[in-house]
Amino acid sequence: MAKNTDLTGMKIPQHVAIIMDGNGRWAKKRLMPRNVGHVQGAKTVEQICEDADSLGIKYLTVYAFSTENWNRPESEVGAIMKLLRNYLKDCIKRANGNNMKVRVIGERSRLSEDIRQRIAELEEASKDNTGLNFTIALNYGSRDEIIRAVKSMAQDYKDGNIDETEITEDKFSAYLDTADIPDPDLLIRTSGEERLSNYLLWQLAYTEFYFSDVLWPDFDKKELINAIVKYNGRDRRFGGVREE
Ligand code: FPP
Repeated sequence: MAKNTDLTGMKIPQHVAIIMDGNGRWAKKRLMPRNVGHVQGAKTVEQICEDADSLGIKYLTVYAFSTENWNRPESEVGAIMKLLRNYLKDCIKRANGNNMKVRVIGERSRLSEDIRQRIAELEEASKDNTGLNFTIALNYGSRDEIIRAVKSMAQDYKDGNIDETEITEDKFSAYLDTADIPDPDLLIRTSGEERLSNYLLWQLAYTEFYFSDVLWPDFDKKELINAIVKYNGRDRRFGGVREE
């Protein structure tokens, strides 16, 4: 239950990032295969996009599949990929219906050709939408993203496109997969776990964290509101001091 569902006068975080955790435990509690938890988790993703948009959140970024998730049993990886394949296909219609701009971050070469094709179609079809900016992290790992950015910057240096005096935090950010996306204001991780798991390490430098005990398939608008209320109670100083 939300302790306070009235967000009047509250600051709505511009960008919310989510680590969706607990699908497996949700299914286990119901004596069902883990994949049922992922299917339910995908439904929660759809609903939360609508809820986030309705609350005035402008950017939502979810961790769907990490570079480490390939280490799961082959059958589970296959089931998640199948789910993502279907989700990406259906998402084109939904994105355009909801005016949602969808992007995918992460390293794509390890994804199958048809999934890469669906991502390209979805990004192209939704690129002019002006509502929620929805980003899916897929085969994403923050360290991998940073190394790819460094390599790309090094190549530009070698080609004479930049010199070392131009290397700033902003310039480096523009080499990351999240170029053009503001840093998250609020990070939510579900299921009671409290770690970052290689998610947006650079981008979360000044982000507020909210750890929820709710398992991802049960996450809903009320719990999103709880996170926003908690966020409003925080004093963000970005390394400075509070003005009295
Ligand atoms: C974490 O739960 C969840 C994942 C690694 C996969 C996330 C995938 C989805 C929510 C579905 C597809 C995504 C989209 C964008 C449609 P877990 O399996 O680690 O749960 P556990 O910790 O309880 O085992």
